Amino acid sequence: MRSPLLGVDYYPEHWPEERWPVDAAMMREAGLSVVRLAEFAWARLETAEGQYQWEWLDRAVALLAAEGLQIVLGTPTPTPPAWLIQAHPDILPVDAEGRRRNFGSRRHYCSNAPAYHKATRQIVTAMAQHYCDNPAVVGWQIDNEFGCHDTARCYCDHCAAAFREWLRRKYGTLDALNEAWGAVFWSQTYDDWAQIAPPMLTVTQANPSHVLDWYRFSSDSVAAYQQLQIDILRQHCPGQFITTNFMGTFPDLDSYRMAAPLDFISWDSYPTGYAESSGPALYMADDPRPAVAYDVGDPYVTGFCHDLMRGLKAGAPFWVMEQQAGHINWASVNPAIRPGTVRLWTWHDLAAGADAVVYFRWRACRYAQEQYHSGLLRHDAAPDLGYRELLGMKDEQPVMRSVEGARVWAEVALLADYSDLWAFDLQPHNCAVTYWRHLFAYHAALTRAGVPVDVVAKDADLSRYRLVIAPGLHLADDALAGRLTAYVQAGGWLVLGARSGFKTPTNLVTDRPLPGPFRNLTGATVEAWHSLPPGIAYGLTDPGRPDLKATVWAEGLSLDGARAVLTYSDGLLAGLAAVTQHAVGRGHAVYTGLWPTTATLESLLRWLLPNAGVEPAALAPAGVLVYRRGDFIFLLNFTDANASAWLNVRDAADAFTGLVVGREVTVPPRDVRVLRLLAAR
Ligand code: GAL
Ligand code: ZN
Repeated sequence: MRSPLLGVDYYPEHWPEERWPVDAAMMREAGLSVVRLAEFAWARLETAEGQYQWEWLDRAVALLAAEGLQIVLGTPTPTPPAWLIQAHPDILPVDAEGRRRNFGSRRHYCSNAPAYHKATRQIVTAMAQHYCDNPAVVGWQIDNEFGCHDTARCYCDHCAAAFREWLRRKYGTLDALNEAWGAVFWSQTYDDWAQIAPPMLTVTQANPSHVLDWYRFSSDSVAAYQQLQIDILRQHCPGQFITTNFMGTFPDLDSYRMAAPLDFISWDSYPTGYAESSGPALYMADDPRPAVAYDVGDPYVTGFCHDLMRGLKAGAPFWVMEQQAGHINWASVNPAIRPGTVRLWTWHDLAAGADAVVYFRWRACRYAQEQYHSGLLRHDAAPDLGYRELLGMKDEQPVMRSVEGARVWAEVALLADYSDLWAFDLQPHNCAVTYWRHLFAYHAALTRAGVPVDVVAKDADLSRYRLVIAPGLHLADDALAGRLTAYVQAGGWLVLGARSGFKTPTNLVTDRPLPGPFRNLTGATVEAWHSLPPGIAYGLTDPGRPDLKATVWAEGLSLDGARAVLTYSDGLLAGLAAVTQHAVGRGHAVYTGLWPTTATLESLLRWLLPNAGVEPAALAPAGVLVYRRGDFIFLLNFTDANASAWLNVRDAADAFTGLVVGREVTVPPRDVRVLRLLAAR
């Protein structure tokens, strides 16, 4: 059987059964090879405790399989049915205001409720036993979008008790906990475990060490709930893969941890939705926005999400389990999309490392919450734009398949960590900065320079990368500093961002000179740090860029072996270094003590990339993204105008026509060029 390539999220339970064979035939005609089913179908699959109704799903699976489609089954646990909630109301989660959330939408469960564990075990075991030997079923998606709709953290009594247990295991004694949290402050000292509650409804801000542990505990609770399902599926279904669908920059779960036990990760890409909802939070107010077509989303945001998601399993290929294929319903404007956009998104997914792309959803739904969301078919079953695009892409599938399994060629890694994110965003100090914004600034600058990036965990193997950028290693210890020092000594270039090494892993400020454990590595000491209000800027010495300024955040560095790359030329830090470079072993450690604005980043990358030996595969104008995956180069034009890119490689041919291309390649508006490398560069 060929591996799945393009697919669709299908809800047969939303349509009369007479329609199913027509749908299945139309899926085959559109060139689809995989269908995801059942992730919200619990009420139809188990109508009362232990009363399973597999027949309808068996018939849907059989019909689809007869058309050559492979099946991914979702475990239906995002939607516990009404009878279960009625019998065990304590399954319903409690929000941070102490209110119990109600039945009537989805994700209405607490991942620590014993009754929910029992019900989950029963439905997942029954479903696994029923489908483990079905040859059409190739894999499982566990639950759906863990944490979505603010459900990563539940404040109920089950969770409070589990939190105390988690803390007891972590700290052993209350003395250790009190010290790790700095509980002497404001008389927060505990002398009985029973006194500890989730951080909620406190009069003013709760203790950030307490909150950080609560976030970690909550994330661990969801990971443990996922593991409960994985253990059952591994036991019964050893021949079927296991994944779950992640959500880009969703911040409330440690996605590295969630990804570890899965066979591969998948994620849900809604480019116009993310551009409208998360995009603004990723840019500084005065950052230039890309002049891209209005219906494509923001390719820099989508690209950041792709690289972050691919990095959850260290750069391995992934799936897009829900790809937007028309307008959506949950953002602010939800623009209609134009012909060519679904194809462009599909190629973006593949260029960025996807092995399969599954479109959301088959047909626009007449009922309930998502009536205004499009599908490949319209409400009236007529093909919508997404379906027509698929027909047009059928001929391109052989080229699509030729990247399968290949790695994206990334010579640069960006390090991310969810505890750093939580700690940083709990006390940003300057409201203009957030953790993702900090990483995104570096990522977008690299993307504009045509340089593909893996966003990986801070304990990932870094040996394959020439340049590692770690903007936000806020919580650090000597072990981490030791690993990064070894990377540099072996010849790597490492960039540490502002506020690195500021805190200990339990969210207390280090008692060492800054940047704490990284001071030997950077060969520089932070003498002072300044949060700068809007309109205040410190000048920087850069002969090539007299306009360069530090804004938002500025750290003044003295030198202990490093050399200054940029120095403050005026303001309170005048004469101190802003960016330093320290030769260590065969490599170099760079410390950037300032907020990375577009201008400072351009200047830094112009110096850093050639020094680190990183050469982009192609140079392209703004709005055109460059990827290299396996032996292919992708040029994706998200603008409304023709664009020319300049290849840094010789001997490439158009993957569709086979014709050899020159160094300058034109990409039509909202279109892609796929080039096959004919010789290694
Ligand atoms: C996703 C979710 C889907 C559907 C979709 C609508 O976040 O997983 O079930 O709600 O959004 O865009
Ligand atoms: Zn709970």
